[in-house]
Amino acid sequence: EPSTEIPYGDSDFVVVANRLPVDRDPDDENRGWRTSPGGLVTAVAPVMKAQEGAWIGWTGVADEDFEPFTIDGMHLSPVTLTSEDVLRYYEGFSNATLWPLYHDVIVPPEYHRTWWDAYVRVNERFAAKVAEVAAQSATVWVHDYQLQLVPQMVRRLRPDLAIGFFNHIPFPPYELFAQLPWRDEILRGLLGADLIGFQRPADAANFRRAVRGRLGYATKGSTVSVPPGDFLPAHLVRAEPFPISIDTPYLEELARDPKILERAKQIREEVGNPRVVMLGVDRMDYTKGIRHRLKAFGELLAEGRLDVEDVVLIQIATPSRERLEQYKIIRHDVELAVGRINGEQVDVGSIPVRYLHHSYPRDEMTAFFLAADVMLVTALRDGMNLVAKEYVACRRRDDGALVLSEFTGAAEQLKGAVMVNPHDIADLKAGILEAVQMDERTRTRRMKQMRKRVATDTVSRWSKNFLAELEHIKDNPESIVPE
Ligand code: ADP
Ligand code: G6P
Repeated sequence: EPSTEIPYGDSDFVVVANRLPVDRDPDDENRGWRTSPGGLVTAVAPVMKAQEGAWIGWTGVADEDFEPFTIDGMHLSPVTLTSEDVLRYYEGFSNATLWPLYHDVIVPPEYHRTWWDAYVRVNERFAAKVAEVAAQSATVWVHDYQLQLVPQMVRRLRPDLAIGFFNHIPFPPYELFAQLPWRDEILRGLLGADLIGFQRPADAANFRRAVRGRLGYATKGSTVSVPPGDFLPAHLVRAEPFPISIDTPYLEELARDPKILERAKQIREEVGNPRVVMLGVDRMDYTKGIRHRLKAFGELLAEGRLDVEDVVLIQIATPSRERLEQYKIIRHDVELAVGRINGEQVDVGSIPVRYLHHSYPRDEMTAFFLAADVMLVTALRDGMNLVAKEYVACRRRDDGALVLSEFTGAAEQLKGAVMVNPHDIADLKAGILEAVQMDERTRTRRMKQMRKRVATDTVSRWSKNFLAELEHIKDNPESIVPE
């Protein structure tokens, strides 16, 4: 239960993200808090639980002011969004302009000046909150595409702070980024930071190329020199990859829990104990390639290359951004595809796709990972994809196979996966069959290799690396001077 006595105004460490780690459950009559959706919260919450600090963010409800509160050892400092902010800043500019633009324009981004104005206004509100909460010379860590102007705004308000920024999603190639009418403002906003982290080396390189191309600033290696100007004081910025990860020890512990192991067995029974259980776990988002996955699966069944007696696909999709048109469309398309595949069956008992449009507690998610022989991660573009890493972390017996899109950040670390190009349905089908038919020794060898990787690359190591580098830059600004 939340308590209200917390020390504020003197935080030495401040996390800033659009979302707080918890949001209000609209279906809960007691108006309780639940874990917010998405990979950012999954990754950053354990970091915050292990460290004193304040988390600035939004509660997920419009037009309601909340006092600061503490939950699970995390001190939360809520920022209020009006319904108009939700419409224009969150649903509009963040999720109908930036999200599709940064994910390879899988759907067309929309550009509206009123949305941009709201984005500036809300970023200012977050920056003002940082200035209020942070102690002298504190470290501030700003997260993700919703808040790209915050580093510059904070630097102006509080030049004493060490400012880090981490981009959880891809940073697009210059040719796509250049579409954005406010491209220069976004670049200047980010350059207010001392250190900017990206998921992949390619994302960092795309950013530096945009900085050279649009602003004409010199870059050397990962260092950008910001010259003295109207927008920012002269300083050096590092833009580098820091691939994010998961709380591996925690997941391994859950995967050992006898209750969860029992539940995994039960799940297999509930879907009819087929030889092969396949699993997909995603937010309901057009970037995740759920339609492509279903198309491939449906064709394999129709061609008799997979037998409906043998396999079941469990597809879990968390509701996400449901008022947006493109999210209504993807949900509709997915549900149509599920209905088609199941409807093709002759036998009343055959239900090859079990589709669940819900979110589940961590224990239940772990049981699903344990129940699955084959995990399907087929995103068309994804900054990292934590689900892939979570599946691997749970496979303590080194069994199970991962089918992984080459367009995820995770593909750079999980080399033991069956790599697929989800745009190529033939390749996707071949990948799924390869995973289903893989002999035990190969499976074990490949899973072992991937498990080793997630055992060392934990989220706690990720945050330590990022914060150590940020501290180093702040303490030794001369050390990053390009010669
Ligand atoms: P994204 O951040 O785009 O949603 P990620 O794969 O990086 O994608 O992170 C998603 C996170 O949300 C993972 O930690 C995953 O376990 C969790 N998750 C996904 N679907 C559900 C669900 N239906 N219920 C509970 N947690 C979910
Ligand atoms: C991704 C983004 C996060 C976002 C999450 C959930 O993980 O990188 O910034 O919080 O999706 O999306 P939502 O719009 O519900 O916050």
